[in-house]
Amino acid sequence: MKKINKYNLDKENKVTDENFFNNRRKIMASALAFPFLINSNAHSSSQKKLSFNKDLDYSTNEKTNTIKQITSYNNFYELGTGKRDPMLNASRLKSDDWNLTIDGLVENPLTLDSEDLIKKFQLEERIYRLRCVEAWSMVVPWIGFELRSLINLAKPFHNAKYVSFESILDSENLPGQKRDILNWPYREGLRMDEAINPLTMIAVGLYGKVLPNQNGSPVRLIVPWKYGFKSIKSIVKISFVEEIPVCTWNEQAPNEYGFYSNVNPYVDHPRWSQKRERRIGEFGKRDTLLFNGYSKFVSNLYTGMDLEKEF
Ligand code: MTE
Repeated sequence: MKKINKYNLDKENKVTDENFFNNRRKIMASALAFPFLINSNAHSSSQKKLSFNKDLDYSTNEKTNTIKQITSYNNFYELGTGKRDPMLNASRLKSDDWNLTIDGLVENPLTLDSEDLIKKFQLEERIYRLRCVEAWSMVVPWIGFELRSLINLAKPFHNAKYVSFESILDSENLPGQKRDILNWPYREGLRMDEAINPLTMIAVGLYGKVLPNQNGSPVRLIVPWKYGFKSIKSIVKISFVEEIPVCTWNEQAPNEYGFYSNVNPYVDHPRWSQKRERRIGEFGKRDTLLFNGYSKFVSNLYTGMDLEKEF
């Protein structure tokens, strides 16, 4: 039997608006209540501290996951397919002398190194929910800047309709790339209006310091209203393109992973439900929210689209 379309964007907007209004008043208090919990080798004292402002407009006031949880339960297939592999193989990612190239349909193609990424932009901390397609979630205090600041620097031409992202390719060092588990390098893409949405972030750190390797050092994308696999790690290239770009999981299994991959409890993955999620560190499950709870900021991007077909 065909599933009925149960979601209603207007209703979702109202609910989320109220939540955000109530939450914002509590954010100041929560910033004090959850100080940094740095207790993991993965984020050792030798890692560089970052200076940043706290962002209150876009942060959730939910309890953040611990640095240990955030750095020991990961998806990063270049470092292995098990959840602990990225932590165990973290040193195999060579992130020194990193260059991020920005090219394609732009007036100002450019290359940035790790220092540029930290120094060229005003960094802020944003506490975002990350919801993975396998129905677990975390709350992470990311540090970074809006992707649109980078887009403004590059000055895309009018015919740049999409942004394409590419991760590191280093089959000599990365254990996952010695096997054909995915068509390497890992690739992702966004529509231009999604890319310039203020929620879309380039992260260079978490919990006050530069990104641990297993979380996508030195530079990754964060798109909090989409399933976690859109948040591509260890990016070496961002290209502005006219056609819809190749995205790794969509290429791998198009019936399971669509281009949009917006978090949507009303559209199940063919092999499991997306209605509920397990917050790492909690017992039991909680209801998954449309657009991961970010409807207020993003539902207008999808007006008129059938989110069951364009999933
Ligand atoms: N980026 C690359 N290059 N390779 C990957 O395997 N996994 C994705 C995404 N980015 C992945 C990636 C998936 S499936 C998820 S859920 C998130 O990273 C996990 O991010 P985290 O490990 O920092 O929580």
